[in-house]
Amino acid sequence: MNDFFLRSAGPDDLNDLVALEHDVEQALPNREMFATDEKEFYEPIVRGAGHILLAFDTTGKLAGVSVIRFPSADDPENLGRELSLPRERLLAVRHLESVFVRPDIRGQHLAEKLVRENMKRTQENGRTLSMATVWPGNAASLKLHLNLGLRVRGFAFKYGGKPRLILMDSGTIAENAAPLAVHAMDFEGHRARLRAGMAGIAVQVMPNQHDFFVEYKPLIQA
Ligand SMILES: CC(C)(COP(=O)(O)OP(=O)(O)OC[C@H]1O[C@@H](n2cnc3c(N)ncnc32)[C@H](O)[C@@H]1OP(=O)(O)O)[C@@H](O)C(=O)NCCC(=O)NCCS
Repeated sequence: MNDFFLRSAGPDDLNDLVALEHDVEQALPNREMFATDEKEFYEPIVRGAGHILLAFDTTGKLAGVSVIRFPSADDPENLGRELSLPRERLLAVRHLESVFVRPDIRGQHLAEKLVRENMKRTQENGRTLSMATVWPGNAASLKLHLNLGLRVRGFAFKYGGKPRLILMDSGTIAENAAPLAVHAMDFEGHRARLRAGMAGIAVQVMPNQHDFFVEYKPLIQA
C-alpha cells in the first residue's frame, strides 16, 4: 500500500472534505450508493460530537475521509433505535457515519485503515457500539464494514425512503451453521432472514462481478 498520512480534521478542513465527497458522488455508478452531507452536518462533529480522520497521499492531496458521529440516546437518527436497543446501549452507539476514498486510489483498503484508526481514536469516549448503514447494492462498503467486524442486523428505509442495511458490531454467530444467501437487492429476503434471528456475515460476489449475495447465519446471542 502507498504511504498515507492520517490526521484529525478541524473546521478549516471541511471545505476540502465536502469537495471530495461531491467528487466521489459524481463518479458513482449509482447515486443510491452514498448519501452526502453538507458542511453544517460536519461542523458539530469536528467540535466534539464525533471525530473525523483524514488521509493524505504523498503529494499532500486529500485521499480519503472517515466520519464517526456520537448520536445522543434521544436522537431519532440513533441507529440503535432501529434495533430497539435499550437506553444504556443507545448511549454507547457511535455511527460509522461516512467513509469515502478518492476513486483513483481505490483497491488498497485505505477505507479500512482509516475507519480502524478512527475507531481506535474514539474508543475512549464510551462509544463502543459501532453501527452503520449501507445501501444493499454497495458491495465495497458492505465488505468494508463486515471486515471491520460489523454484522447486518436490520433493514430499513432511511434518509427519505432509501433502502439501507443496518449493521452493528455485537452478537455471537453460530459459526458452524450452513450459511443462507440472499441476493443483495432482495429486500424481503433480508427481512425474512433478520426476522428469523439471523445476521448477515459475508458477501459472495458472482463470477459476473456485478451480482452479489449476502450470507446469513443464526445469531446465538444478540
Ligand atoms: C467504500 C469505499 C470507501 C471503499 O474504498 P477502498 O478502501 O478503496 O476499498 P477497496 O477497493 O480496497 O475494497 C474493499 C473490499 O471491497 C471489494 N470491492 C470493491 N469494489 C467492489 C465491487 N464493485 N464489487 C464487489 N466487491 C468490491 C474489494 O475487493 C475489497 O474486498 P476484500 O476486503 O475482500 O479484499 C470506496 O469504494 C468509496 O469511496 N465508495 C464511494 C463512497 C461510499 O460508497 N462509501 C460508503 C458508504 S458511506
